[in-house]
Amino acid sequence: MGSPGAGSSGGHECSFKILLIGDSGVGKSSLLVSFVAASHLDGDIAPTIGVDFKIKFLTVGGKKLKLTIWDTGHRVLFVYVYLWVGSLKSLWLHCSLLRRACHQAGQERFRTITSSYYRGAQGIILVYDVTKRESFSNLADVWTKEIEANSTNKDCIKMLVGNKVDKDDERMVTEEEGLAFAEESGCLFLESSAKTRENVEKCFEELALKILEVPSLLEEGSSSVVKRNILKQKQESHAKNGSGCCQ
Ligand code: GTP
Ligand code: MG
Repeated sequence: MGSPGAGSSGGHECSFKILLIGDSGVGKSSLLVSFVAASHLDGDIAPTIGVDFKIKFLTVGGKKLKLTIWDTGHRVLFVYVYLWVGSLKSLWLHCSLLRRACHQAGQERFRTITSSYYRGAQGIILVYDVTKRESFSNLADVWTKEIEANSTNKDCIKMLVGNKVDKDDERMVTEEEGLAFAEESGCLFLESSAKTRENVEKCFEELALKILEVPSLLEEGSSSVVKRNILKQKQESHAKNGSGCCQ
């Protein structure tokens, strides 16, 4: 799964969780790989199955940051495979009860994956493809609704990114439309190309800068708080497992 990105880890001051969301094929993984590797893409990237993450260390606004950037792909495929296996099981066993249980388990699993993906994120990048109108309309129909339903952080900074601007002759969504939607939804806005690397760095850096400006997000991401939270989680899991010797 995840891998450390380029750049030195030499003692970061803050650590932030960033999410990439948007329709399949809009270029989420390409933006991530291009940013982390700090180079042009070497060929096409395979569609992401499930969830992946990469880490990038960088200095923004005079602060050394660690960004853990999460990328999703075909989560729905997981559910369908799960349901399909469930259906086979039910055929095999001729048992409708089991099929219903599999269906519910699949839906529950999907919800669990989605909510844990969003939990504790300080920044969310919503990506659409400027050559695919449906990927833009799905921002309102699907993605902003998913953020509302799952984001646990009310101060979380959102950035809208219209990708693939290198394909200008195939453009279906104008820059003005992108900007208007960003303003309406309270997002920062940029257009980018993972292929030419136009605005790739800027998109992550502007988001990080904005996160640094919000005291509650800065507090959450500051290294001492991160360490304290990890310690607290360990203590809680010890207590749950009953393996702690002193409470
Ligand atoms: P899923 O993992 O399926 O959700 O897709 P994704 O959003 O991660 O898209 P991905 O990065 O896999 O890119 C999909 C296709 O678009 C690949 O063939 C990329 O090479 C291509 N692509 C990505 N970004 C750009 C871009 O800025 N310009 C052009 N021309 N092609 C791009
Ligand atoms: Mg992908």
